[in-house]
Amino acid sequence: MKSFIVALDLTSGAEALAMVDRLGEQANYHKVGSQLFTREGPGLVSELKDRGRKVFLDLKYHDIPNTAARAVEAAAELGVDMLTLHAAGGTAMMAAARDAVGDDGPLLVGVTLLTSFNAADVEDVWDKEIRSIREEVGRLAGLAADAGLDGVVASALEVEALKRKHGSEFIVVTPGIRLEGEPVADQARTATPAEAIRAGADYLVVGRSVYAAADPTAAFKRLLADVGPDGEVEAAP
Ligand code: C5P
Repeated sequence: MKSFIVALDLTSGAEALAMVDRLGEQANYHKVGSQLFTREGPGLVSELKDRGRKVFLDLKYHDIPNTAARAVEAAAELGVDMLTLHAAGGTAMMAAARDAVGDDGPLLVGVTLLTSFNAADVEDVWDKEIRSIREEVGRLAGLAADAGLDGVVASALEVEALKRKHGSEFIVVTPGIRLEGEPVADQARTATPAEAIRAGADYLVVGRSVYAAADPTAAFKRLLADVGPDGEVEAAP
């Protein structure tokens, strides 16, 4: 079953928990990223778990294999349901993470290219010409698959190709979700919820569209409605 993950990119734990309570049961999966985790630490993850919420810990680990593996182990002990590593950290790092938590721990997903990146950004970072974002995302996803990760984070624009290559079981988490006409802000590769679902995305990460809205509950309902009653999306799997 597909599901929305509401990012809690807020400035304090109190604000984040107020948002969680305000959205209620309709949003049951939340992303804790570097902004909130750096401020509040693991306690916030425990608070979310105590409230019966699923947690996507998006700290995008990228380090030497041993350090990344120990960090992933620590995250698993917190009881998170899914977490991210940068696929650019390499196969050895991702495989060490997989070994550290086995198959019963959290889902491990590799960040391919940030959805804020366009082709020029990639060329700037790697100092090489690329044929397409899709090809680069595909290459990094291949590393993640080889290392035994459960899936990747990529934009909705790349989902179809990834599913074709790695099969429907290979999880794709898609940020950069916007309704038609919404400001894209710093995101470069965006899609509507309906487009992401049609492409085959498994998890849709929504941030500012919800928490920065005047009425976050109504905004979340609009995102759910975009998928439609037959869109197979449920807030909480
Ligand atoms: O506010 P917005 O909907 O753009 O937020 C997208 C969320 O997804 C943010 O929390 C961001 O950190 C996260 N993300 C992303 N691109 C990735 C991985 C995670 O935008 N490749």
